[in-house]
Amino acid sequence: MTTATRPSLGDLLHAPLEAPPSLEPLWMPFTNNRAFKKAPRILVSAKDMHYTDADGRLVLDAVAGLWCVNAGHCRAPISDAIAQAARTLDYAPPFQMGHALSFALAERVAAMAPGDLDHVFFVNSGSEAVDTALKIALAYHQARGDAKRVRFVGRLRGYHGVGFGGISVGGIPGNQKQFAAQLLPHVDHFAHTHDLARNAFSKGQPKHGAELADDLLRVIAERGGDTIAAVIVEPVAGSTGVLIPPVGYLERLRAICDAHGILLIFDEVITGFGRTGASFGATRFNVVPDMMTVAKGITNGAVPLGAVLARHAIYDTVVNQAPAGIELFHGYTYSGHPLAAAAGLATLDLYESEGLFERAASLAPYWEDAVHSLRARCHVIDVRNIGLVGAVEFETRDGKLGARGYDIFVECFKRGVLVRQTGDIIALSPPLIVEKTHIHEIMDVLGAAIDATA
Ligand SMILES: Cc1ncc(COP(=O)(O)O)c(C=O)c1O
Repeated sequence: MTTATRPSLGDLLHAPLEAPPSLEPLWMPFTNNRAFKKAPRILVSAKDMHYTDADGRLVLDAVAGLWCVNAGHCRAPISDAIAQAARTLDYAPPFQMGHALSFALAERVAAMAPGDLDHVFFVNSGSEAVDTALKIALAYHQARGDAKRVRFVGRLRGYHGVGFGGISVGGIPGNQKQFAAQLLPHVDHFAHTHDLARNAFSKGQPKHGAELADDLLRVIAERGGDTIAAVIVEPVAGSTGVLIPPVGYLERLRAICDAHGILLIFDEVITGFGRTGASFGATRFNVVPDMMTVAKGITNGAVPLGAVLARHAIYDTVVNQAPAGIELFHGYTYSGHPLAAAAGLATLDLYESEGLFERAASLAPYWEDAVHSLRARCHVIDVRNIGLVGAVEFETRDGKLGARGYDIFVECFKRGVLVRQTGDIIALSPPLIVEKTHIHEIMDVLGAAIDATA
């Protein structure tokens, strides 16, 4: 193709059907490429609560893109901030150089965080945030003169992105299978909290299961608590299908880690920035970790950005007590990229000026009733919710894990609602600007899709 025949950016964005690109060269992530390319679902544009697809249909976004677009799509203040940064400072090297936007964003994020999580290391994604937090944990113990603390503990069913660190501490077998020969050494897992026998159809935090945190004591007994650098969990496990922490569970994890000098990392890539009706899961559940990983909602999904928040003592030990010179041999070319930082600042302004976290909290009871209205539908074995997150779990069909979930996802899309499927669980996490009419539409369409695929 020559420059003259190549479609312009405008053609690709505004008239994809008239100038369809070939689907073949793109190797799509976490996608059944062959099935997708036979029946593609192509998005063209987005505004507030909706996508428009290539057929010109409006699709209601019930998952904030992929848990990230918390303020709704294509919000002008964010787009304008990105454009302004692109015109003024397109790129600045983050090693031995700085720019005001990333310092300003770090200050804002630290001010929002609970406790003394007052230092912020920027990365580009949730996966990078996780690998960075694991490295900081090792560097911290080494700087304290406790270099034998090298082990990490994750939780079964945890999702911590796709870096080697993340899949190693993660507890999703499907994500490890192809790479099992080269996972990180010295990693253990403790029990997850999914317990339908006791907690099915819980509203908010399930009542039973605080004691599941004690499975960490099993790992500590086996390995020695003084060999463990850090424990990493999602406050609400998202990607595995929304597992909400039982009452008292996170407090118990915190106490065990404290008793054994182990750092507790909360992976808040999904729970950060209003999703649970508070700034962070840590705020919502009133348990402060030693480090927190965030991404997604920090820029409303508009530019890739992630971050690790670290408690004061961690920064102080690794940085202030180090010999002169570079203190941490880690960082990315795009750490704190000006466009991402500009998007982050505009996003946090929007969350604040529109009171979106408070809005999520005040809509949560309505949302809870709406999600639980699906409990009587065919094959539903659980409904769960917290803040503006919901999940419906289904009986597996004929031993084929995920077949029913996938069919429901496709059927919802055909009927104009984007949901997220994990196995036989449908997860919902709409932008925090969602209106009650949208909530009705989501539940109506999901209910009809469940019936149609039953
Ligand atoms: C809890 C959690 N951690 C890490 C990640 C990885 O983030 P990314 O896809 O930006 O690398 C995700 C993504 O969904 C996540 O939910």
